[in-house]
Parts: sequence; C-alpha cells; structure tokens
Amino acid sequence: MKYYKSTLNIEDAKKEYMETPKGNIFHIPSLGFSRYSPSYVVTNEDIRWVSQLTKKEAHRVLTAAGSGDHPMFYALQGADHIDTFDISYCAKAAMDIKTAAIHKLTRDEYIQMLLNMHSARKLSDIHGITKIIDTLPANTAIFVKELNEYPLFSNGIDPSFYKDTMPTAAEYDLMQQRIKGPFKFIWSDLGSLHSHLVGEYDIINLSNILEYMTPEQIQKTLVSLRTYVKPEGYIMAQTGNWGISRNNKAFYEASQKFKRWAKMGLIKKDKTKVNSEIVVVLQRTR
Ligand SMILES: C[S@@+](CC[C@H](N)C(=O)[O-])C[C@H]1O[C@@H](n2cnc3c(N)ncnc32)[C@H](O)[C@@H]1O
Repeated sequence: MKYYKSTLNIEDAKKEYMETPKGNIFHIPSLGFSRYSPSYVVTNEDIRWVSQLTKKEAHRVLTAAGSGDHPMFYALQGADHIDTFDISYCAKAAMDIKTAAIHKLTRDEYIQMLLNMHSARKLSDIHGITKIIDTLPANTAIFVKELNEYPLFSNGIDPSFYKDTMPTAAEYDLMQQRIKGPFKFIWSDLGSLHSHLVGEYDIINLSNILEYMTPEQIQKTLVSLRTYVKPEGYIMAQTGNWGISRNNKAFYEASQKFKRWAKMGLIKKDKTKVNSEIVVVLQRTR
C-alpha cells in the first residue's frame, strides 16, 4: 500500500510539474496519475448511459471524482448520497469548480468554462471563474489560486470532442436542483480507498481506472472493496469511449474468483458496434 500525506501541499504540487525553456508548464509524464496530476474536464466515458442503468437502485454511490461528471450524473439520476475518491487533488478542484459553477453560470457559460479550463494558461483565462471563485471550498480556492499558471485541468483531449457528454439544457436544470454543494471527496489511491470508507454503497463505480492496473491489483482492489457493497449492490467498471478496454478482460477474469459472493456480467451499449462502450458489472449476492 502506498502511503500519502493527506494534506494539501502547494510546494509538493508544484514539484510535480516542469517548465520548458519557453515557459510552458506541464505535468511530468513519468508520474502518470499522481497526487496532483491534471484532471479531465469532461469524462471520456458514457456516464449518462451507465448512471441510467442503476437509476432505481443507486441511492448511495461511490465513484471517481475525475472530471466531476460521474457524481454529477449520478445525482441527476436521483442518487442522494454520493462520495467521490481520486488519487489527484486536481480532480477535486475540477469537481468543486463544476458544482459551484452550475449555480452561478448559465448552461452556455458553463460549457464555455469547460472548454477554457482544459487549455487555460492561467486561471483568469477560464470564462466565468470570477463569479465562482469565492464560492469554492477554501482549500480548492487556495489550490487554484496558488497554482494559477499550472495546467491543472489539461488531461485528455480537447473537451470540444466530448460535446455530447456535456449536460443538455434539461439535465443542467436538474443538476442545479439536485446538487446543492460540493461532493465529499476522499483523496486516496484505489489501493487504500477501503481504509477511508464507512458503510455500504449501492454502487461503487471504478470507471476507467482498472484499465491501468494488473489483474493481481484488480483482484486485490475487489477484495478490499467487496464488504463496502450492499447485498445486491454493484461494483461497476466501464471503459472509455472508442472501446478503450485494454483491461476490462482482466477485471472480468479477476471477477471470476468471486463467484461465491457475486454474479458478474458484461453489458455492451451497442451490440452491433465492435467499439461500443462496455461496462463490467459485479453484483454482490451474499
Ligand atoms: C482515466 S480517468 C477517467 C476519467 C473520469 N471518469 C472523468 O470523469 O473524467 C481516471 C480517473 O481516476 C483517477 N485515478 C487513476 N488511477 C487512480 C488510482 N490508482 N487511485 C485513485 N484514482 C485514480 C485519475 O486521477 C482520474 O481522475
């Protein structure tokens, strides 16, 4: 298990980035996903589809903070207790900015904000940020101000490619009604996530993370999380768009070891497409 300091440290955050002679700042690639790696701005998975699959049963949900879209879409579907986790503090910052923004910006302004967040060279380049900054949780505000010129939200490709994932007008209205404040954030590596959990969840969504792990790590993760799933509840893992599914097979295979307490299956969004999104579902039976 990795050991991490659980307090925000601006100097540590800066150390994860490098500056080129031309003055461009970027996250050190060899660090991969890390304590302060840049977050996504818009999810690269079809969370709209996956959150609808469990619309009726998902009251208590644990999901990756990522870009913030996962908890926001689960809230949209009616989940009333949503906790989030992520290895990167930038994911918390992105999520806090988005949950604050829906109450301050129109939908058009919100979309413009997302487009700017990805490429912004400094905080003030982000459309609407001045309307939001004072309503952010204190630590998030300090973080984004202190790292003003760092590309904290630059992961993934340009969010203009994901325009369909951005909330529709009706979804935006509903998010405004249902998301009243920031989501609880657990700053943790997946390997030690279980040590921060209290109670059981209807859904634990490990979306697009297991793809970066070995089958052994996946198996260990499932063992550590299984007691935090309610009986009949689910652990789900979905793939990114365009069938980015390298390790879904590994998750499925790892799941086979849990036959005594779980049922598992694969749901493909569009059976006619080779590259269709897939979600692997493990349901606790006892
Ligand atoms: C590939 S991204 C998926 C994007 C995400 N679904 C979104 O909303 O944009 C995976 C997310 O999981 C986080 N992550 C990656 N490895 C992790 C780990 N070992 N433990 C906890 N979080 C991790 C990353 O920081 C990132 O936010």
